[in-house]
Amino acid sequence: MGEDASLRKSETATLHRALELGVKLIDTAEMYAEGGAESLIGEAIAGHREDVFLVSKVYPHNATSDGTPRALERTLKRLRTEWLDLYLLHWRGDVPLAETMEAFLKLQQSGKIKYFGVSNFDISDMRELWKVSEGREAATNQLLYNLTRRGIEYDLLPWLRERHIPVMAYSPIEQGRLLEHSGIRALAKKSGITPAQLALAWLLSFKDIVVIPKTSSPKRLEEDYAARQIKLSREQLEAMDELFPPPSAPQALEML
Ligand SMILES: NC(=O)c1ccc[n+]([C@@H]2O[C@H](COP(=O)([O-])OP(=O)(O)OC[C@H]3O[C@@H](n4cnc5c(N)ncnc54)[C@H](OP(=O)(O)O)[C@@H]3O)[C@@H](O)[C@H]2O)c1
Repeated sequence: MGEDASLRKSETATLHRALELGVKLIDTAEMYAEGGAESLIGEAIAGHREDVFLVSKVYPHNATSDGTPRALERTLKRLRTEWLDLYLLHWRGDVPLAETMEAFLKLQQSGKIKYFGVSNFDISDMRELWKVSEGREAATNQLLYNLTRRGIEYDLLPWLRERHIPVMAYSPIEQGRLLEHSGIRALAKKSGITPAQLALAWLLSFKDIVVIPKTSSPKRLEEDYAARQIKLSREQLEAMDELFPPPSAPQALEML
């Protein structure tokens, strides 16, 4: 969002519809449209700040002791808010994890962020994070997770579950590519739902997965939001495992 001026109207309308529907979480990052996404969201949610759980992310190269609070100030200004609900390190960079986590903790203590966490952290990164005392306060690991990207189920997801750390599943419909899969299309048709709803309902069948699809269309937003009401049967879940088998060996974490 915020990248293409010709989409601004429909992106804003989508955010307004999201507020009307009661969508609770909006995910963004300083990287998206180089601040343009945050500015668009800030304008669209003005006057509704208390209604949403606002998530943003710091660039790894900004995630230093001094750089993190400065990046957050810019983010808060663009989002027109005094605080973030969740602030994430977008991916692992060169800044020592202890430095970033300490910066996050200070921002939490000052009330400018409610929670902090990480994104795109593989199991080895999580193990390192766990050696940093503030790192154990991480509220989530936002990861690429959808039917075609099930690698995390082998070791990372169980590791996180043991520690009660919820995953935020990004690109849940594989940036739209999943919707062209013939198996998904056939199963969705048989189930009387759309391919997007099937892909989202699969992720939502796990109680500890937060799902963050993106759309710039109010109509598709309604379609995606309705996936919350869909409860897949055991037969449907088994059919999906056949189409997209879970991993049988460790896989390096994928990112988009
Ligand atoms: N932490 C990270 O590194 C990271 C990386 C990537 C993404 N993310 C987060 O995850 C969010 C979602 O990921 P994403 O945008 O990469 O992928 P996505 O949500 O899997 O897919 C978005 C694409 O699917 C289309 N779409 C959505 N609903 C649809 C529907 N019902 N029917 C047909 N097409 C539909 C959208 O088009 P329209 O807009 O035209 O509807 C858009 O092109 C992002 O907005 C971002 O907040 C995080």
